Amino acid sequence: MHASARQLSTLCSEYLDRSRAPYSGQAASAIALLSDGSWVPGVRVETASFSLVIDAAHNAASTCVAAGRTDIVAIALSDDAPPHAASYLANLGFCDLEQVDGRLFAVPGAATLPATTNRLEVTVKTPASDSDRIQATRDAAQHAYVPASSFPVGCFAVTADGTAIPGVNVEHRDWNRIICAERNALGTAASYGLGPIESLYVSCVLDPDGTPCGACRQVIAELAPGAAIVMDRDSAPPERQTPETLLPGSFTGSAILRRRSEKTAPPRKS
Ligand code: THU
Repeated sequence: MHASARQLSTLCSEYLDRSRAPYSGQAASAIALLSDGSWVPGVRVETASFSLVIDAAHNAASTCVAAGRTDIVAIALSDDAPPHAASYLANLGFCDLEQVDGRLFAVPGAATLPATTNRLEVTVKTPASDSDRIQATRDAAQHAYVPASSFPVGCFAVTADGTAIPGVNVEHRDWNRIICAERNALGTAASYGLGPIESLYVSCVLDPDGTPCGACRQVIAELAPGAAIVMDRDSAPPERQTPETLLPGSFTGSAILRRRSEKTAPPRKS
């Protein structure tokens, strides 16, 4: 157990600077270890709307699910685990992890953990046409973990060079800790250092009128302000919106950050 715990802790440190923590300054990262030794990073992503923070462990676990990998055997955190991490990881549903020590969570009864191998690559090259992209989001939704709602959602966040980052909704025994497909994809983009996001394809496969929820609209406005939001409309052509049309006049947090940089800037010479 101990050798791979050390490897995981080193990997956590390597991803710490991908964390977006401009409000609290509390950067955090996590590494999820899969049964074959491949691993997935997750970073803490803060938003100005504080309750929508994506925690590092949450980010790593939801990235795994979107990639079709629920065989998580351990998750290590960069810092002393925040108190809520233990209850989040103990109640994932598809695999429940218990706290081994302050920073390491593992499947119960795991005597040893596999040595780390390669980072799991989760992105794909996006298809050229809109209709193929929409079909890809429908296919992605097959990885959604939805025991509570039976309402799968698939998403792809696409960067300028055509890299497509998948997201699905990942439900939890605590309904409050569900992550939507859109936020899952944006969290993964941060962990893998990808962006800016040029378009976000969303498919609520059981609802041809489906749109991003209010929480996702806020996070999209903050993390993907220039993205075209392209929504599956079943047999009709997809609907296109912008973050501004989905959430006009959204709270951005820029005033907070401006104030913070004024406070920390060296005093001006008079
Ligand atoms: N959901 C999404 O993943 N994205 C949306 O745009 C709408 C809602 C999920 C969250 C939850 O798992 C289920 O759909 C019902 O709200």
